Amino acid sequence: MTITSQSIHDEFVSRFGGQPKLFRAPGRVNIIGGHTDYNEGFVLPTTTGLHTWLAIAPRSDRILRTFSCRFDSLEEIDLDRIESRGDAQWSEYVKGVASILEDAGHSLRGADIVIDGDIPLGGGLSSSASLEIVLAFGLLDCIDVAIERGDLAQLCQRVETDFVGVRCGIMDQFVISHCANDRAMMLDCRSLEFQSVAMPADARLLVVDTGVSHRLPAGEYNSRREECEQAVALLARQIPQLGALRDLEPAQLEDEKNLLDDRLYRRCRHIVTENQRVNDANSALRRGNVARLGELITASHVSLRDDYEISCAELDALVEIMISCPEVYGARLVGGGFGGCALCLVDAQHLDRVTDRVRAEYGEILGRPPWVHAVTATDPVGPAPSMEPPDVPQPEANS
Ligand code: GLA
Repeated sequence: MTITSQSIHDEFVSRFGGQPKLFRAPGRVNIIGGHTDYNEGFVLPTTTGLHTWLAIAPRSDRILRTFSCRFDSLEEIDLDRIESRGDAQWSEYVKGVASILEDAGHSLRGADIVIDGDIPLGGGLSSSASLEIVLAFGLLDCIDVAIERGDLAQLCQRVETDFVGVRCGIMDQFVISHCANDRAMMLDCRSLEFQSVAMPADARLLVVDTGVSHRLPAGEYNSRREECEQAVALLARQIPQLGALRDLEPAQLEDEKNLLDDRLYRRCRHIVTENQRVNDANSALRRGNVARLGELITASHVSLRDDYEISCAELDALVEIMISCPEVYGARLVGGGFGGCALCLVDAQHLDRVTDRVRAEYGEILGRPPWVHAVTATDPVGPAPSMEPPDVPQPEANS
């Protein structure tokens, strides 16, 4: 069922009564820039047209009574006794957001909350960051705090790093807080400076779920980050000014490769070449050169697969099917990797043909048609669209 302001409003009223405020936050897809964010590098994400929705009304006590429509589950959280279960279930994100906001000095009110969403869970389209952002936005609205969007993104990143235990970068939370309608965002993850870039008129992004759920807390994500940190520590023996892999020049990596074992060398090569690809992709997007953008997207997948080793058989099979379509410019895995979705950049005129073919061919592998979504970049976190006014019978015209 399509989620609308009306549907989440009605769910809230039937469950809790009263009049909620409605908010929503988009999911994101990173067009290019895999695992560069926590290396202080560059990313080029956009939003997807999929959202996490929130209906919220403050209470007079310090209890968060939260109903998740997707899990059909109600949780009560006492703001004075927030205890993590450490299991990365949806309610851990509610606890994490509340706990980080309180730590940052925001004294929250209790609230009745309904959450719904259409972003695939564990699909690499940032369902969790979107939940964190919309929840923080709504909880702060209940205490009349209008937070600066950069601060909102950084606090919600801390939900992952300090509460859930995923040492993620800033990309997801930042794009969800800032990305403009119909635009992509070229983001420098060190300075947090960004430029907004128009999405091409003649090409569309199609995301397809492998059906293999990725679980970031499983450790592989954090281990990639640790490997990058190890590499920086080793390379800094010869390059003392090296603060992060973002600073590493391709020639320096080749000169100093004897400091690294093969695995660390390949991790570095991915980051160094990926940062270059993001910058090239930004130029290609600005020039409207979708063919070049597509080549870079596919090169990103190859590097993530071979050097960074975060792909899996299903993602590789799906990407192969995508790039075998003549109307596809390029394809890659999205998000953290190890499952979830892949994206492809498609000639807009042939979106339906590619959708049908990928659905049929990957469906053979999966044993059922995969979930497929054509991306439309929408607004960042904010109030949900106004509800349609109820139908008022019109007086009959006098004849
Ligand atoms: C996850 C993380 C992001 C980023 C991507 C990979 O989505 O949350 O910070 O590292 O993986 O690019």
